[in-house]
Parts: sequence; structure tokens; C-alpha cells
Amino acid sequence: MSRLIVVSNRVSMPTPDSAQGGLAVALQAALRESGGLWFGWSGREVEKFNGSVSFDEVDGVRSAVVDLEPQDVEEYYNGFANRTLWPLFHYRVDIAKYDRTFNAGYQRVNRRFVEPLHVMIEPDDIIWINDYHLIPMGMLLRERAVKNRIGFFLHTPWPPTRLLVSLPHHEQLIRSMFHYDVIGFQTAEWLESFHHYCEHELGASIKGDYIHLDGMMVRAVICPIGIDYRDFVDGIGSPEAQSIADRVRRSLRQLTMIIGVDRLDYSKGLEERLKSFEHLLHQHDDLHRAVVLIQVAPPSRGEVEQYQKVREKLNELAGRINGEFAEVDWTPIRYVNRGYARAELTALYRAARVGLVTPLRDGMNLVAKEYIAAQDPEDPGVLVLSRFAGAAAQMSEALLVNPYSPEEVADALHMGLKMPLGERKRRFNALLQGIKKQDVHWWRAKFVDLIQNSEVVRP
Ligand code: ADP
Ligand code: F6P
Repeated sequence: MSRLIVVSNRVSMPTPDSAQGGLAVALQAALRESGGLWFGWSGREVEKFNGSVSFDEVDGVRSAVVDLEPQDVEEYYNGFANRTLWPLFHYRVDIAKYDRTFNAGYQRVNRRFVEPLHVMIEPDDIIWINDYHLIPMGMLLRERAVKNRIGFFLHTPWPPTRLLVSLPHHEQLIRSMFHYDVIGFQTAEWLESFHHYCEHELGASIKGDYIHLDGMMVRAVICPIGIDYRDFVDGIGSPEAQSIADRVRRSLRQLTMIIGVDRLDYSKGLEERLKSFEHLLHQHDDLHRAVVLIQVAPPSRGEVEQYQKVREKLNELAGRINGEFAEVDWTPIRYVNRGYARAELTALYRAARVGLVTPLRDGMNLVAKEYIAAQDPEDPGVLVLSRFAGAAAQMSEALLVNPYSPEEVADALHMGLKMPLGERKRRFNALLQGIKKQDVHWWRAKFVDLIQNSEVVRP
């Protein structure tokens, strides 16, 4: 059997209480199953990059990591990845920053990753590169005569062509993707945008799954990521879950709980979410002292200004709304800036009557799937989900909302809070089926199969 080498910007080994993001959670599950190797950045800085690799194994996941130097982290990670591509890929051209040093750092770090990686590759290995941080890596590996099968999976949205062309040198970056054998997207919408770009900006032609360009060919497919459903459900009965469930139950008393769990990121629509909750409280006096929103939002990418701004804004907003509505014995919003262990999250999700997932744009959104997986089948909660999350394409039985409209979100929240048991069960059962069928193991097997078995034309 071929060995799987998974590559992503950050290698996050399993830890009890970190907020890891969907990619890390899914890749840990995939690697535990396949026994492969995970390569990427350690998350640490060294004074001078030296390319030395540290190996580790935690909980059945093997890793190989390199440290980066401060300039790399600033230009590549905080710069091109998180100030340029992340906002652009989430349709936020208004805040995307274009700076030549960012692009130079991005290219440099991709080459720095390729140096130690290419010597580790054995002839039968399958290589799976993840996310926007590493788009040029396939081409750089080919330049070092790597002939192995290489796939690329994008966890984020792919933006419309009219936005993407605002990126300086966009053709160069996207052309480099034709060195992959397969490219995976979360939804049909992102794949369509990719097709549109390739046809209209590069002059490529599309034949079924395959895109042809100047003697090169790449297969581009939809392969939606799932959650580790079994592992997640097993967490429900654990002592950690029981302990936090007891604490929450005691503190809730008669209150009905709404939950939000997100990295603290402007793409997650947290400001709009709090304002929608405020609107709900304005509209429905009967919900005062009856409902509470628990919003868990661990800080993320704190060196980037836009993340600092959203953090400040949320502190202010949560304070203002609580100040406006709170009573001596009731605080409407519990805003928590920390990570929780996975088992604890299951208990939080399960205690909530409504799961509130309202990103302004999201590649997939695993929290939506986790919320459903954690529910009690005899008394399930209701998912209120942004129609702009990739997950909405698979989760039509959720209450789908426009996250920019406080009225629409507040109406859906009200409907969720009042929904009769029969309808809750019907929607839950339909959603659960999809989550079980297309779980993270299905996703891994499908994408690995695509990498292994696609037709290949190399220039
Ligand atoms: P993204 O990848 O953009 O962060 P996703 O919703 O796809 O968004 O994935 C987020 C992942 O991170 C989920 O698996 C979720 O459980 C996890 N996560 C988010 N917030 C926390 C937290 N406070 N504690 C622990 N895990 C968290
Ligand atoms: O899922 C999208 C993503 O950007 C991943 O690539 C990343 O690991 C995760 O979010 C968390 O972000 P970061 O690694 O920047 O903390």
C-alpha cells in the first residue's frame, strides 16, 4: 500500500484543548486511519531558517515539521496567506492587502518547505497538499523531478473571477495549479468559480472533470469534507463531557441555550450574529430571562490587524448588548475566548436548543456538522445555518439564513426556539444521515482514490 504524505501550513498534533480549525481536526482523523505522515510548519520560530526536520508521533499521528524564521512568518503566514489570500478567498477584496514582500515571502516559504520534503518522498508515496498557503507547492515539487501523484485540496471558498483578478500575478499562481493531478473543492459553487477563471482568464478548456491548458491537464472535483462522526459521538459519554454538561446544566437553570463556536475570524460573521441576537431580544420580550447565547470564540491570527479589530468590536458589542438587556440574575450573552476539548464541545452542543452558525462566507464549516452529530436523537436541537457556508449545500434541512439580515436570523432563531419536537426530529434525522454517510473517512478515502486513480498528463 502506498504511503500518504499530507502537507499543510500548520501541523497541529492532537491536544486536549486547542482550537484547531477544521483542517487540523479532519487531517488528524484521516492520518490516524491511514498511518501516513503529516508535514508542515511547527508553528515555532527560529532566528535563522535551517531546514531541519523534527519528527514526532502523538495518538497515532506521525508528523515531520520545520521551524520558520520571523520574516517568513510575517510575510508568508501573516502576510500573503492571512492578509492577502484569506480575505480575497472569502470575497473581502475591501480588506485584502497586496504587498510585493508578502508574495516574495510566500514563494520563499513554499520553496523552503519543498527542500526537506522532496528528499523524504519515496517513489510510491501519494502526496496531498492542503489549502491556500501552499498553492505553488505542486509546481515546485515537479521542478525537483517529483513524479509521484500529487493532489491539492482547498478548504476555503474559491472566489468569483471578478474578485480574483484583483490579485497581482493571479495568472502565474493559478497556472501553477496545473502541476497537480487533482484539485478538490468543498462545493459545486467553488468548483464553478474555478472553471470560470480557467476558461475566461487562462483560456483553458473543460472536458468533464478535466481541465486542459497548453498541454497540461488537471482534474478538478467536488469532495466535501466531513467530521469524524463516530469519534465525536463517543466523546459524549466521556467524563470530560459529563463534567462540563453538569456545570452548564447547573448554570443554565431554566434558560434555553443557543450556541455559537468559531475561531475569532471576521469571516465567521460574529458581529452580525450578536446584532441578530440583539434584534431577537428587541422583538421578543418573552425571551428575556428565558434564553442565553453562549458564544465560544478563541482568538486566531492575532498579529493581523483585521483580527485585532474584530476582537475589539466583539468585546464592545457583547458588553453593550449585555449592558442593555442584562438583569441582576440574567446575562443574555456569555462570550468566551477560549478553546475546549472535543469532548467538552460535544456537551456544549448537546445542551443547546439552537446551534447558530452564520459565517458570511465559509469553505465548509465543520461546526454545523458537529452540532448535529452531538444532538440527543430523542430531543434534538435546531441548526440555524448561513446559506453562504459550504455546508449549506449538503444541509438543506437546517434553517438556512442570510447572515447579513438581522431580521432573518432573528426569525430563524425564534422558529428554532419554538419548533415542535416532531419537526425537530424530522430535520435532525435527515441531517444526521448525510453526516454519517459523508464523514471524514469517506472524504479521505474519496480524495486519496481520486489522487491515485485520475488520468494524468504531464508536460
Ligand atoms: P475553520 O476551519 O475556519 O476554523 P470549521 O468550522 O470548519 O472552521 O472548523 C473549526 C473546527 O475547530 C471545528 O472542528 C471546531 O470544533 C474547532 N473549534 C472551533 N472553536 C473551538 C474551541 N473554542 N475549542 C475547541 N475547538 C474549536
Ligand atoms: O480551515 C481553514 C484554515 O485556514 C486552515 O488552513 C487552518 O489550519 C485553520 O483555518 C486555522 O487557521 P490558522 O492555522 O491560521 O490558525
